[in-house]
Amino acid sequence: MGTTTGPGDGTELRGRLVTLRPVRPEDAVALRELRASAKVARWWDPPEDPDWPCEEGGSSTRLTVLEDGALVGLAQWWAEEAPQYRHAGIDLFLDPRVHGRGLGTDTVRTLARHLFEHVGHHRVVIDPAAANAAAVRCYEKVGFRRVGVMRRYERNPGTDSWRDGMLMDLLPEDLTAAPDD
Ligand SMILES: CC(C)(COP(=O)(O)OP(=O)(O)OC[C@H]1O[C@@H](n2cnc3c(N)ncnc32)[C@H](O)[C@@H]1OP(=O)(O)O)[C@@H](O)C(=O)NCCC(=O)NCCS
Repeated sequence: MGTTTGPGDGTELRGRLVTLRPVRPEDAVALRELRASAKVARWWDPPEDPDWPCEEGGSSTRLTVLEDGALVGLAQWWAEEAPQYRHAGIDLFLDPRVHGRGLGTDTVRTLARHLFEHVGHHRVVIDPAAANAAAVRCYEKVGFRRVGVMRRYERNPGTDSWRDGMLMDLLPEDLTAAPDD
């Protein structure tokens, strides 16, 4: 990753395959369409706010993921700022047309590295559904470790039923290198 500052100050994060930059209003329609696509909506429930992803006062920092300048997804992070428990959490989705090519791994690695190196976090968490094998695999490739299964952690989107979540965490020393590093 070649950039030393990051979103929040309007600059970009560059990975090996992707670039992350702050979400712009003109990204909203495409991001909402991607979020509603079947392979994403299975894991991301519909947004509650009609202005998502550009609503006022959100607690997450949202970044548009680009490949060769084309919008391919969204990554976001939030922070627990209580000094005793300070850490960050991340989440993402990518266009199903680009799944399985390493872009998710590159996105997560790029964002995690930014959170460690430039935002000063010492621990990053992520909490995919336990059944989301592609996501768990992707995060393990970055170096995340499985902390444990959170039983009946979240609703299956659009239903009253619950599903298990997988809490995973990453420390700076766990972060795996990108192939070209
Ligand atoms: C999860 C997600 C971000 C991963 O991005 P991606 O670009 O597809 O990820 P990568 O290509 O870097 O890695 C995916 C890995 O999972 C593997 N994989 C894919 N489907 C799998 C499955 N059903 N079981 C096990 N592994 C699987 C791939 O083979 C790859 O591993 P490999 O490189 O060892 O072969 C993307 O699939 C996505 O947006 N999914 C829909 C939304 C979502 O689930 N978001 C995460 C919510 S926590």
